[in-house]
Amino acid sequence: MKTAITELFGIKHPIIQGGMHYVGFAELAAAVSNAGGLGIITGLTQRTPELLAKEIARCRDMTDKPFGVNLTFLPSFTAPPYPEYIAAIKEGGVKAVETAGRSPEQYMPALKAAGIKVIHKCTSVRHSLKAEKIGCDAVSVDGFECGGHPGEDDIPNMILLPRAADELRIPFVASGGMADARSLVAALSMGAAGMNMGTRFVATKEAPVHANVKRALVGATELDTVLVMRALRNTERVLKNKGVDQLLEVEREKGASLKIEDIHEQVAGVYPKVMVDGDMDAGAWSCGMVVGLIHDIPTVKELIDRIMMEAEQIIRERLIGFLDAAEHRPAVARAIA
Ligand SMILES: Cc1cc2nc3c(=O)[nH]c(=O)nc-3n(C[C@H](O)[C@H](O)[C@H](O)COP(=O)(O)O)c2cc1C
Repeated sequence: MKTAITELFGIKHPIIQGGMHYVGFAELAAAVSNAGGLGIITGLTQRTPELLAKEIARCRDMTDKPFGVNLTFLPSFTAPPYPEYIAAIKEGGVKAVETAGRSPEQYMPALKAAGIKVIHKCTSVRHSLKAEKIGCDAVSVDGFECGGHPGEDDIPNMILLPRAADELRIPFVASGGMADARSLVAALSMGAAGMNMGTRFVATKEAPVHANVKRALVGATELDTVLVMRALRNTERVLKNKGVDQLLEVEREKGASLKIEDIHEQVAGVYPKVMVDGDMDAGAWSCGMVVGLIHDIPTVKELIDRIMMEAEQIIRERLIGFLDAAEHRPAVARAIA
């Protein structure tokens, strides 16, 4: 399939793997890129720019296809040295960066000077337009369904994607709630040039996370995610577990006076406990409603091949079939008359 996104990033299929803390290591990024999508290493999972440089080199050993790095600008307990991370990306020869969280405006000159294509993840049309204005090459439009940080507007993709299509001139991918061929075709219908998946890629053979995480995703339904940190305007969609129950209890007690320190135990340092140790009750970790559509743990290639094959079937058979049927109906009606 050829879209503005396949052309922009030099990839075969319009499928991107979003940056994911403690999931987006070289193994997953390389598997996605080798399968024809755009794999993304999560920059800040690497504790220093030097470690990111090593992770980029590891990924390069595993694929000769394009891959990217995610840079997340979120409120954190200590601010990471972003310019050094960007230098590592540039020196590693990476030509695609997915930015997320705050606007990447102050880093755009450095990224552009290095010939890097920037796709910024946005949860609203106004942020998408800002991204376009500051020179981003594409946007990942992240609906309310998404795993991770959906923003504070709560607009699902059935509305957000066509709204983005009406306003944006740069290409965009649909992010949030994307799992299969139906998602891809729907996203293309609403004006996107591809799709970005997070949660779905965690439940793949190559995702370098504990087997308990993959089992939990297959076992969960679309009713098993919940929003946390709303009172902090840092809303996150996470999978329910005992640690999250405690967090919600603290949120109920504190109400609008909640501070990040109150929930430190349930939100800080949780990812290694979940993703490495497989402690599924450790606290808040991102998971999308799309978990209700995840029923297996395929290889990344099996997943992407299945999506592309079924997308073609949906377009050629189901959708064109409706048109063909409509063309034939008058003839049939005439025959009956
Ligand atoms: C486990 C997990 C960790 C994530 N970590 C990050 C992150 O560090 N930075 C980021 O920009 N997005 C992060 N995301 C969001 C994804 O990149 C993507 O935008 C989101 O998962 C899309 O929604 P979906 O899960 O419905 O596919 C994370 C998502 C998951 C599931």
